[in-house]
Amino acid sequence: MCGIVGYVGEKKCTDILLSGLKSLEYRGYDSAGIAIIDEDTVKIFKSVGKIQNLFDKVENEKSNIKNPVVGIGHIRWATHGKPTLFNAHPHTCNCGNLAIVHNGIIENYKELREELTLKGAIFKSETDTETVAHLIAYEYESSKDLLIAVQNATKKLKGAYSLCIMHRDNPDEIIATKCFAPLLIGVGENENMVGSDVPAIIGITNKIIYLDDMDIAVVKKDGVVVRNYNGDVVNKKVVELSIKEDSLNKMGYKHFMIKEIFEQPDIIRNALNGRLKDVHSNIVFPEIDSLQSDKKIDNIKIVACGTSLHAGIIAKYIIEDLTGVTIEVESSSEYIYRNNTTNSSSLVIGISQSGETADTITAMRLAKDKGAKILIITNRPDSSICKFADSVIPVNAGIEVSVAATKSYTAQLIVLYLFAIYLCEVQKKHTAVLREIKQELLTIPSKIEHILNNKSEIEGMAKSLSHYKDFIYIARGTNLATAQEGALKLKEISYINATAYPAGELKHGPIAMLDENMPVLAILIPNHITFDKMISNCEEAKARNAKLIALTSSNDERLEKLFDYIIRVPEVSEILSPLITYVPLQLLAYYIANYLGKDVDQPRNLAKSVTVE
Ligand code: AGP
Repeated sequence: MCGIVGYVGEKKCTDILLSGLKSLEYRGYDSAGIAIIDEDTVKIFKSVGKIQNLFDKVENEKSNIKNPVVGIGHIRWATHGKPTLFNAHPHTCNCGNLAIVHNGIIENYKELREELTLKGAIFKSETDTETVAHLIAYEYESSKDLLIAVQNATKKLKGAYSLCIMHRDNPDEIIATKCFAPLLIGVGENENMVGSDVPAIIGITNKIIYLDDMDIAVVKKDGVVVRNYNGDVVNKKVVELSIKEDSLNKMGYKHFMIKEIFEQPDIIRNALNGRLKDVHSNIVFPEIDSLQSDKKIDNIKIVACGTSLHAGIIAKYIIEDLTGVTIEVESSSEYIYRNNTTNSSSLVIGISQSGETADTITAMRLAKDKGAKILIITNRPDSSICKFADSVIPVNAGIEVSVAATKSYTAQLIVLYLFAIYLCEVQKKHTAVLREIKQELLTIPSKIEHILNNKSEIEGMAKSLSHYKDFIYIARGTNLATAQEGALKLKEISYINATAYPAGELKHGPIAMLDENMPVLAILIPNHITFDKMISNCEEAKARNAKLIALTSSNDERLEKLFDYIIRVPEVSEILSPLITYVPLQLLAYYIANYLGKDVDQPRNLAKSVTVE
């Protein structure tokens, strides 16, 4: 949540800061601001709402901007205080000579605020961040050394933060520090940047220094010096990234979400290329081989949030089905606040697209403290969560910009399927069945392409369904989580209420809600033991006048009569069906939201990475 950018160099930095913020827009979009040092003064420009408002503001005031070569910027997702101009970052101290931007939450800000008020600080916002500005300013008064002031101030902070600080007296530097929130430095030629995520700096450089917790970096145009908590200089590794600019570009699509949906077949192809040589060879998983140890693992837990949790639920179904090994799956936010049974014989698998989700990070930390082995499945192997990992499996979806996760879900699913097959191969079980599954896996990308090529049918359907205010999605078996994921997609981007139920649960309560205003979308997998039961559940819904939508590959003659709409998908076995059934649900959600004119890539109230608990 929120995004930070900073620049020190020789170029006029306003455009660089604005474009860095633009590429972080998916992290938060309630308000935005920049602070620059220009003509020996700290100048601050802020606006509420989308980043475009800040572009307009800076443009309108360009006559007041001469030649700033140092600046910091922030894009906000409100935690403390409403998205107002006062609460927008950068924040400053009484004299206005210091400016800071902050991601995270300062837990002891109330106590600090009281103390600082007594010492004369005048607060203009409701934010926890402003406390840090006054605290550093107060420390600076006595030390007259910005680095020492930051060192002293951060020792008093409790909570999570990444901070960028600049001061009029030090017009050639930015100070950057972090604790439990990501921050990195982009190393350029006669210019350096700070960013909370790679997209912020990728327009300038692909050379990165990842800061560790409690590191404090002094960033100047011609050098970066990083010190640890004790003030000792630490040598940091400069990592060269190969981020494709395409990830940050809509490439002609109207939204990132639809672009990312269309990337899915290739993501599966790439994952298979790396790990599935041919159907006769075993799956290649060096990341899991490296997890083997003398310590016996006798229980496996998957912990994740949102879409990643849905991928985890599907993994439970397929792993239990193929291997007979029990898998527990739990939402990270539940796992961390109860006496769970994790112990030193546990393997805890954390799934997170961003690797920055606070609940999942805390879950991994707690599991690690209990002695569990930690396996992280993430799209960002450079993220904070990985530091708790015994092993990391990157899912390689490329940067996902749309807040609604689509391609990262695909990438997680395919890795989890390969993981399930791998576990089965280790057990030397079902060899012939596994061969068939592997054979069929290879056909999945073209099946998804088939669905994508027929997108206009779903688009048409979306138009005629877009006036409903509520939907129920039902499924049984492996696709229950597909229904949950489809409902989540619809909710988050169209703000239409959608709830998923195991179809058998309908008659235990939800059926009371059914009438002509409540469409029911059912996922029906032919030749599966649940197919006839699903038909009966749909008939029960029809008897209550619900509009019925089938998502199926079946040609069963009962369907045409029973359903008002049928979304057809290519034939696929039940076990692999979750690898294709979610695609029409992504498209349906997308086209409904687009038809309703919603802000598809940046839905209200949401942020791409939920870095607060
Ligand atoms: C998905 O569309 C969501 N925006 C959200 O549920 C997301 O999956 C969740 O916040 C978890 O994020 P992570 O995978 O980055 O941990």
